[in-house]
Amino acid sequence: MTRQLTYNDNIVPLPFVFAATPPRAAPEHDRFGGLLGTSTAMQDVYRLIARVAPTDATVFVVGESGSGKELVARTVHELSERAGRAFVAVNCGAIPANLIEAELFGYEKGAFTGASRQHQGYFERAAGGTLFLDEITEMAPEMQVRLLRVLETGRFLRVGGTEELAADVRVIAATNRHPAPAVADGHLREDLMYRLAVFPIELPPLRSRDGDVELLAGHFLAGLNHAAGTCKRFSRAAMAAMRIHRWPGNVRELKNAVQRAFILADDTVELGFAELAAPPGPAAGERLEFPVGTALADMERQAIFATLDHCRGNKRRCAEILGISLKTLYNRLAAYQAVAAAAV
Ligand SMILES: Nc1ncnc2c1ncn2[C@@H]1O[C@H](COP(=O)(O)OP(=O)(O)OP(=O)(O)O)[C@@H](O)[C@H]1O
Ligand SMILES: [Mg+2]
Repeated sequence: MTRQLTYNDNIVPLPFVFAATPPRAAPEHDRFGGLLGTSTAMQDVYRLIARVAPTDATVFVVGESGSGKELVARTVHELSERAGRAFVAVNCGAIPANLIEAELFGYEKGAFTGASRQHQGYFERAAGGTLFLDEITEMAPEMQVRLLRVLETGRFLRVGGTEELAADVRVIAATNRHPAPAVADGHLREDLMYRLAVFPIELPPLRSRDGDVELLAGHFLAGLNHAAGTCKRFSRAAMAAMRIHRWPGNVRELKNAVQRAFILADDTVELGFAELAAPPGPAAGERLEFPVGTALADMERQAIFATLDHCRGNKRRCAEILGISLKTLYNRLAAYQAVAAAAV
């Protein structure tokens, strides 16, 4: 049986065909689902996905920022019996600690002040489908205990509820932290790690995927050319620079770099060593000025928004530059949003 899939989050939808069952022993693919790559490191990933997708096993995707963890999760979903049902992605680091239980499991009317009606959580909204729990290590340890219980029992309670509901979801969790150190520094509960470690998929960083940089860069450029009706090409120097660069931001960084260079190019797309090697800090000339007497909180808010702009919305990069945790960044943004909403 073959199935045709397309994805929206790529620059051009990628039509592809694969054998859904039985999984091929050694898929020799240049693409698999929305994932592109011919490297042996990626072939290993495809093989694992093909094996685990038809089961209902919980999957733990581990990989550096921008390496394609969400794309892996979507591919597992699309190759599973649950394809066609909901794929719900939740960024655990983005939800304030005091709201996460209600967001995941829902709540009953009157469960707390402001709960004026019953609310379905992500577990209910993903019923029949797949729940992707991104940045699982950013979830508070108390919530990790609750999640573990749901994974073990397949049942959960809405906040304020008394009736246990069946969790008909396949859970895929992801993190860009190494699991063992994350356990050691308290970001990941050991019992949850063992539960998730049943089927880990380690996504290799782009720098260790032989030949994939050229393939991906060509793919992103083709998508941009297609959309703009142009036929721009990479210069030799650009290809050389891309091969040598270490890509700390992985595929996302490559995609953004190609897009930026494409916009700047007439016919030949240049990507210089200098540009690629630039440290992730604000460029010279990008600065903020505050009159003496400005409140610290105000300076902090402006610095956060300016850095976020600089990183083109990449919150992880923004938090790294500011030297704060991603969680702190999300908490600040949530607080600014709450103030803005209250002011309307
Ligand atoms: N192998 C690949 N082939 C094609 N596109 C890819 C591949 N891997 C990643 N991408 C693209 O790169 C971008 C980042 O991928 P994705 O969001 O899945 O990464 P991530 O690991 O979840 O990132 P983060 O750690 O920031 O959450 C997306 O636009 C995705 O479509
Ligand atoms: Mg992600």
